[in-house]
Amino acid sequence: MSNKIGPELILHLNGLFRAARLYDVANRVVQTNLRILIETLAHVDGGEVTLLVLGENMYLNDDRIKLERKHMPHLRKLSSELATHELGGLRIMSDAPAEEWETFLVQFVKTPEAEGADEESSEAEAVSFAHLLRIAGVERIVPIPARDVGAAIALHTDEGISAQDEDSAGAGSRDGSEGRGGARAGDVFEHAVAGAQTLFESTAQGGTRLLRQARRIVQPLVETIMGSEQSIYRMGALKEHDEYTYAHCVNVAILSIGIGDRLGISRKGIANLGMAALLHDIGKLSVPREVLQKSDRLTPDEWKAIQRHPLEGARLLSRQAGLTYGSVESIRAALLHHRTHDGAGYPSAPRPVRQPTAARIICVADCFDAMTGHRAYREKPLTGYEALHQMIGAEASRFDPAVLWALVQTVGLYPPGTLLETESGYVLLSREPNPNDIRRPTCVVLREPGGREPGGREAGGNIADTTWNPMPAGERVRAVLTAGDIEADVEALLSV
Ligand SMILES: [Fe+2]
Ligand SMILES: [Fe+2]
Repeated sequence: MSNKIGPELILHLNGLFRAARLYDVANRVVQTNLRILIETLAHVDGGEVTLLVLGENMYLNDDRIKLERKHMPHLRKLSSELATHELGGLRIMSDAPAEEWETFLVQFVKTPEAEGADEESSEAEAVSFAHLLRIAGVERIVPIPARDVGAAIALHTDEGISAQDEDSAGAGSRDGSEGRGGARAGDVFEHAVAGAQTLFESTAQGGTRLLRQARRIVQPLVETIMGSEQSIYRMGALKEHDEYTYAHCVNVAILSIGIGDRLGISRKGIANLGMAALLHDIGKLSVPREVLQKSDRLTPDEWKAIQRHPLEGARLLSRQAGLTYGSVESIRAALLHHRTHDGAGYPSAPRPVRQPTAARIICVADCFDAMTGHRAYREKPLTGYEALHQMIGAEASRFDPAVLWALVQTVGLYPPGTLLETESGYVLLSREPNPNDIRRPTCVVLREPGGREPGGREAGGNIADTTWNPMPAGERVRAVLTAGDIEADVEALLSV
């Protein structure tokens, strides 16, 4: 029962939360989603379900639910929805009437006002949400605070919290296994994208707690990157995301954190920088979606609307409760990330403006990710190598040279996704930067000298059999190839 109903519950809860954020609870869309959820709950044995989410794991009553990979983005979305109120799960009586659900939803989609990132205020939020529900008469849908989830699992299951759970609940760390590290970094990345989506959606609904949400999303990215997990940069080279705006914000945060680390910024400073990077385009919420996605030439008014996003972002962030030094840095970065090192860019200024460090870093990271990403107005994204070439070449005056150099050190001379040919005749795909030598990334061998298929893969081996980690010191790059030069599914090779 549980293994089938688990994914259904995730989908229907996500659908219901999303609808309730967009429409009034009386709206037909919300009511349809609610009816589907109530019908699903009617199939639960025992009349009650306790749903817990911990990292990449889901528990229903006492069972750990086996989820397929395709379900993971939905689980992450649910996890980030619950995290809005510092929750890790829900206890639901299957006969909870529609009226109770409606009252629950009204409270759930309200973004909490409290600010602060310490554990005490996190706990306080979960408690106050539970209290609000109780006084509103909701008794059959009970929130479970995130901090109680680990204990609840330990209490109700034989396994308790395994080391793997703890790892997946936190950040990816190095375990010496390249493949596993990559999988973890992928999870951290996907989690951050789901979190960014929730953050943008709740802000669009008038939420005022985005600084705290942003800090929570950024922390695992900081730990992953400062733990020297290079595979996280591979995620930025994957451009398969539909929700490119959210993936863009996460990519800019990843690159900014990497650059900040290279520049020797303190850990606290890097956390603030990551938060500012994640929020740099929050002002785009004020730009009509049709304008952001327009592929034709923009009218002067549309261009003006786009150019207002730094100011709108700064305005939105300055309205947040409980401003700290970190949040002031986010405001300045939102305002100035489109100003350039040579004094150009927007918003226009009557006098030269000195960009703060965070804005200078975000400007470089933003440009690199924008050039390599799908945009409505561009037929084909540039490769990381092409973007880097342009940024350190023709457009170098726009950027702070120290930051530009830190970008090269972060993504390498041949960023993930670059196709290379060595002097000895190997054809390679760059997969991860090598922090010890920017010229020799970790690569997968696509062809051996003479055009032969690499031995490992021909014999049915996996990608690790034909991976150079890193490229050997004796090899030198002779040429950078373009996608048309060789048949290879670059996205597939980067995503494993
Ligand atoms: Fe921007
Ligand atoms: Fe941007």
